[in-house]
Amino acid sequence: MKNKVLCLGAALMLLTVSCKEDKTTTTTADGKEVAAVYEGKELSDEYDAKIDEIVGKMTIEEKVGMLHGYSMFTNQGTERLGIPEVHMADGPLGVREEIERMSWAPAGRTDDFATYYPAGAGLSATWNPEMAHTFGKSIGEEARARGKDVLLAPAFNIIRTPLGGRTYEYMTEDPFLNKTLIVPYVTGVQEQDVAACIKHYAANNQETNRGTLDVLMDERTLREIYLPAFQASVTEAHAYSVMGAYNKFRGEYLCENPYMLQNILRDEWGFKGIVISDWDAVHSTKKALEAGTDLEMGTNKPSFDEFYFAKPLLAAVKAGTVTEAEVDKHVKRTLKLLFNLKAMGTAKDRAKGSISTEAHFKDAYNIASESVVLLKNNENLLPLKTDGVKSIAVIGANATAKHAQGGFGAGVKTKREVTPLEALTAKLPKSVTINYAEGYKTEFKPKKEMKFGEVTQEAKETVNELDPKMVADAVAAAKKSDVAILFVGSNRNYETEASDRKDLSLPFGQEKLIAAVKAANPKTIVVFVAGAPFDINTIEKEHSTIVWSWYNGSEGGNALADILLGKVNPSGKLPWTMPKKLSDSPAHATNSFPGGVTAEYKEGLLVGYRWFDTKNIEPLYPFGYGLSYTTFELNNAKADKKEYNADDTIKMTVVVKNTGKADGKEVVQLYSSKADSKVSRAAKELKGFAKTMVKAGSSETVTIAVPVKELAYYDVTSKKWTVEPGKYIFKIGNSSRNIKGEVTISIK
Ligand code: BGC
Repeated sequence: MKNKVLCLGAALMLLTVSCKEDKTTTTTADGKEVAAVYEGKELSDEYDAKIDEIVGKMTIEEKVGMLHGYSMFTNQGTERLGIPEVHMADGPLGVREEIERMSWAPAGRTDDFATYYPAGAGLSATWNPEMAHTFGKSIGEEARARGKDVLLAPAFNIIRTPLGGRTYEYMTEDPFLNKTLIVPYVTGVQEQDVAACIKHYAANNQETNRGTLDVLMDERTLREIYLPAFQASVTEAHAYSVMGAYNKFRGEYLCENPYMLQNILRDEWGFKGIVISDWDAVHSTKKALEAGTDLEMGTNKPSFDEFYFAKPLLAAVKAGTVTEAEVDKHVKRTLKLLFNLKAMGTAKDRAKGSISTEAHFKDAYNIASESVVLLKNNENLLPLKTDGVKSIAVIGANATAKHAQGGFGAGVKTKREVTPLEALTAKLPKSVTINYAEGYKTEFKPKKEMKFGEVTQEAKETVNELDPKMVADAVAAAKKSDVAILFVGSNRNYETEASDRKDLSLPFGQEKLIAAVKAANPKTIVVFVAGAPFDINTIEKEHSTIVWSWYNGSEGGNALADILLGKVNPSGKLPWTMPKKLSDSPAHATNSFPGGVTAEYKEGLLVGYRWFDTKNIEPLYPFGYGLSYTTFELNNAKADKKEYNADDTIKMTVVVKNTGKADGKEVVQLYSSKADSKVSRAAKELKGFAKTMVKAGSSETVTIAVPVKELAYYDVTSKKWTVEPGKYIFKIGNSSRNIKGEVTISIK
């Protein structure tokens, strides 16, 4: 079913990741390819005859029952034929708690606790495909233990604007990093006999007006930026289900869009699974069904019978406007999925899974501990030296906040979420006194009640006035302590599905609090817990030590504390650009966010760092950026040849030298650039990366394999991926802006 990553007992595992003939590959330190990894198993056709037989016995009512929601997270089964309901669950942060069959109210069960995993932004900040595979496998086991057939994850729409409400939940602004992590994730989930539901297909990059917005972009931008991770999930990981998004694309809703659902997804990519609508994303019966949506899910109608794919579908078949053969097609796809998942009555050996185990908490810890990004450490306040330290002030709501739940959308009911304060209390020597102060409250101004599905950009206004007593307590705690650590940032009520932020400002008056604490104790470390970029210019200017963490799962506090105390050396890298100001960001510079009836993606291909680097706009922190407690040099970048054919794979080697005193992991990043291209291209495009552990004082050679195919652009005339011959420059660095070497190669 899978080709697993082989560590082969190597002391050092170099994940050299690229896309080889559409497959992710891994190589060892000496450049040997150890395994073709993360190749999913295609849905098998072996049950087709059986499926035909079953469908032959089904009434039209039974067939139609399979194609629409029959409870909040299932369709209808047909017991007499051994067809179970398809059991679905969110979602990206862990398997969601059980809710009532007919309402969003919690079911109040005691067996639906789950591990809370780092949200997407944290996972992508690891830049580690092995972690993504661990994530998928671990959450897949939990989904099985909860009896699920489909996990409504991963969610990985491209981060087009830093304001996007789901930035924390999605992965990155870069299509290559996106697909390189999503393929192992999907593979990991599906190894557990659970279908991943990749979402939200596609071009669902904002929450504002998501239910009506018509997204317009040129074809190259669609193919080169917004689709690659969906494509690789289907062609490499063989994702078994796809979620049709809320919005429209080029005039048609995604759940009734033949170009996206039939031409691209099925005809071009060979998708054999089922298309599940986002909740309430279907707007028609005949059009949606015939375009390729297989299962209508949602909640907006008074009863499930009213769904477009329920009574209206029955009526359409009876009236002859939709054929029964059309209905059969969708029923058969769903049965194929159930057979392949070993979910049909007679199947044996289905994975049983496990949930909330220590092993899963460890998975969550490992991912979190590779995700934390050290933004600044000028006076080397970090790692915290506890020798001679008698007291530490721990200040800020995020020292004690829990983020497994909050805001709109899926959360996790978990028995464990270790906060930073709990972790520091457990890990600091007993001789160190912790002086805790909350510092600020996370309050919102009263607003009109929002209904599910109602989406506005101005949904939440925060209370930004600080409570003077709380500030005084924080200042007092900082003053009497040797060091102060501020845990600030955001939370999941502020960053949430169903609304975008209106600006980048730090909410809840935090900037003033941070300044007051710094004035009270110059040895102040600022730790952000957030999933999206914020305006931290002032803090950047005034503070020597800044750390960035995420909604980082059950073990997020432990991972963060281990980083602060130096047990773990930070190795996370930003998966998006942190702009100096919002208007520098492409969607805002081109005044094309949030749009109105339509949103035209005017920046085209120049999303994220592609825009900043092409237009020479300096970001606050670039894409791919992150420091370590040690220092690295990248030397001797070399390609294995000077000239390549279109089918070759370029093998680039780089020597990574750890020039500091601590062992650490560095992410070598390879960006391509083509100056004399006949088509417009970004100044730099990520084409490969490798995360490697290097011991203090040692050097390691990293090999990054880039199939020449990866250099192709999408030719809109021939409708083909095309590799332009000629010279390409590879820029090697540890962020999109810190380039340490260049290698020029040519393609015949
Ligand atoms: C979200 C989906 C989610 C679904 C079910 C929708 O609002 O967009 O990501 O899977 O709800 O909870």
